[in-house]
Amino acid sequence: MVKVLFVCLGNICRSPMAEAVFKDMVTREGLSDKIYVDSAATSSWEQGNPVHQGTRQKLKEVGIRTEGMYSRQLQDDDLSADYIIGMDNSNIKNIHTFIQNRASGTVCKLLEFAGENREIDDPWYTGDFEKTYQDVLKGCQGLLAFIKAHNL
Ligand code: 4NP
Repeated sequence: MVKVLFVCLGNICRSPMAEAVFKDMVTREGLSDKIYVDSAATSSWEQGNPVHQGTRQKLKEVGIRTEGMYSRQLQDDDLSADYIIGMDNSNIKNIHTFIQNRASGTVCKLLEFAGENREIDDPWYTGDFEKTYQDVLKGCQGLLAFIKAHNL
């Protein structure tokens, strides 16, 4: 099983979007028994809260549901993930602070899998869930291609 963990600051906007979009892709390709997908926050600020309305609304437009998803903070169980994927440089810094040297998985930004060393803007601040969705989609497509080439 390849374990993928998406991480952002609050785990209510970007990382649950990536989790839901990537799970949908994995399911469509019949790979659910090979790839495990989850998400978490670097902060505890939104602990227990549901997915942000903006993410819910955007994903509903493309037929992806987010019911039953709630924010949670990174925990030691997450150290076993093969891919710990942040959205921006601040996430990456916080992920490394949490991990110290305790994990062996790959830590990188989602858009690196699309060949871009760029951050995914936080729609909590920009309000632009469409742009975030397009970036998440691009990154998830690249990530799936990467995992198929390297892990499956
Ligand atoms: P996310 O966005 O990291 O993409 O989930 C945020 C959600 C909540 C907060 C900041 C960013 N907040 O300050 O509570």
